[in-house]
Amino acid sequence: MTPIAIEANHLTRQLPLGGEIIPVLNDVSFEIAAGEWIALTGPSGSGKSTLLGLLAGIDTPSSGKLVIEGQDITRMPEQHLARLRNQKIGIVFQSFNLIPTLTAQENVEVPLYIHAKRREAAALAQEMLDLVGLSDRRRHRPHQLSGGQQQRVAIARALVTQPQILLADEPTGNLDSINGEQVLALFQSLRQRFGLTIIVATHDPAIARCADRVLHLHDGRLVKTGTH
Ligand SMILES: Nc1ncnc2c1ncn2[C@@H]1O[C@H](COP(=O)(O)OP(=O)(O)O)[C@@H](O)[C@H]1O
Ligand SMILES: [Mg+2]
Repeated sequence: MTPIAIEANHLTRQLPLGGEIIPVLNDVSFEIAAGEWIALTGPSGSGKSTLLGLLAGIDTPSSGKLVIEGQDITRMPEQHLARLRNQKIGIVFQSFNLIPTLTAQENVEVPLYIHAKRREAAALAQEMLDLVGLSDRRRHRPHQLSGGQQQRVAIARALVTQPQILLADEPTGNLDSINGEQVLALFQSLRQRFGLTIIVATHDPAIARCADRVLHLHDGRLVKTGTH
């Protein structure tokens, strides 16, 4: 039996919106097996980013239970949660979120500064930049890189701590189709190499087609879950 990477039970996230409390996520339950690739789809405002925030341990559910790699993170103390975020989960965003004053190499080293020694961090970051095909761009700063290259740096940064889970929020949303395809191909090869569990929020039908399974949100509810 394949181990379960993520288990969500009756997750709810309520947010105050214009004097009202709105259930941005409403009774969402699912299981994701280790090594599975999930496309999280749904119209704008349906709760995809909110759900990724919960899975990443950046945000806390209003009710329900969330188990990541066998650990119940629902009421985990912040310090413990921070360690889980750093070690088990990698995150990639639509807007890359690189630090503009740092080089590609330094951006990838950042998550390692918490634990690793400086020289170790440098070697690991270099290895990841090789893997994403950017060994010749190590000393470039984000503004000297194309969008696709910046996203590949962000992917290297997300994976340099060797997490089991990769979360991506519309990772190709700011890329043209060629760069989008490159990022998609990179996800596929990194998944094979590391046995990653991948959850991608996306509007991109090409990504959804690559997924093992689609979770579809509408108005904060999971309305459809199936294979392509
Ligand atoms: N911090 C917040 N405060 C208030 N409302 C929010 C906040 N974040 C998201 N929302 C609302 O929650 C809903 C879901 O948003 P989101 O998760 O970003 O959807 P998606 O990623 O699918 O576009 C939207 O109606 C949005 O306006
Ligand atoms: Mg979003």
